Amino acid sequence: MSAVPSVRLLLLSGGAHPALAENLSRELKVPLVTAEVGAFADGETHVRVARDVRDAAVFIVQPTCPPVNDHLMVLALLADAVRAAGAARVTGIVPYLGYARQEQRGGPGDPRSAQVVGRLLGVVGLDHLVTVDLHAPALENAFPMPVTVLHAEEVLMPRVRSWGLHNLVVVSPDAGGLKRAQRYAPALDASVAAIAKDRPRPDLAVPLHVLGDVRDRACLLVDDMASTGRTLAGAADALRRAGAREVHALFTHAVMAPGAEDRLSAARLGKVLTTDTIPVPAAPWLEVVSIAPLLARAVRYLCGEGTATDPR
Ligand code: R5P
Repeated sequence: MSAVPSVRLLLLSGGAHPALAENLSRELKVPLVTAEVGAFADGETHVRVARDVRDAAVFIVQPTCPPVNDHLMVLALLADAVRAAGAARVTGIVPYLGYARQEQRGGPGDPRSAQVVGRLLGVVGLDHLVTVDLHAPALENAFPMPVTVLHAEEVLMPRVRSWGLHNLVVVSPDAGGLKRAQRYAPALDASVAAIAKDRPRPDLAVPLHVLGDVRDRACLLVDDMASTGRTLAGAADALRRAGAREVHALFTHAVMAPGAEDRLSAARLGKVLTTDTIPVPAAPWLEVVSIAPLLARAVRYLCGEGTATDPR
């Protein structure tokens, strides 16, 4: 990731996550500009940035969380609006990137939707994208602009350590997440296990076997997101059947599709931890840490501040 020379920084919220944008503005100690976002009678989206952005480095805060298409369209229109108004650079702060799970064709006739999103954001003028725990890390190479992928463990790990779990196994609920589990384990003095998972159809996850020894151990499931919640709930059952003493879970993105809250709250998990890359429903069983300090460091680095270190 290359640093850019110091220019006026303008932080712009697209409205998908006002609380995170405000939090980031406080971290950076720069004012937040909120875009006007509305819709025409026919349903088309309309945005306006009522601020001089000429020669500014504009950072648009807009996770493309549900409703994904609406938030994505606002991001695209805002990028074009500030580009047309003479911004020097346009960076998307998109901590959760919708469509990222569709990076491979499921079969004949399917598109590569994640790559389509990347191309779209390049066409409208995004120079750089900052995101968190991208579902498939290789995806960053398919995007036309540089992508900075931040890892949430920097903000999640201190909270997990404060739980004081002993005899711990970090468990990936599927083969695809094994590298993520391996990143967490050493710092928690834990071993690693994984679950073989099948997806007979979209949004249905069936855990098959636990790979690794979890008997009488404390297990920490680590995943990039909870969408329907089926992956984590099913994995927790599988771990208990394999003899786990207790099961906790963390995930970066609380997508929380309909039914997920009920599924996860009924999953007999101990601690459950997530971040605020997406607006998170308040629930007594769910702990949330903010990703804003991590995003702030990335913004400072991209603005070429001398003391900022590469956040990756
Ligand atoms: C899958 O590859 C992901 O890493 C997550 O495990 C998955 O997207 C979670 O989805 P759900 O909560 O719907 O099972």
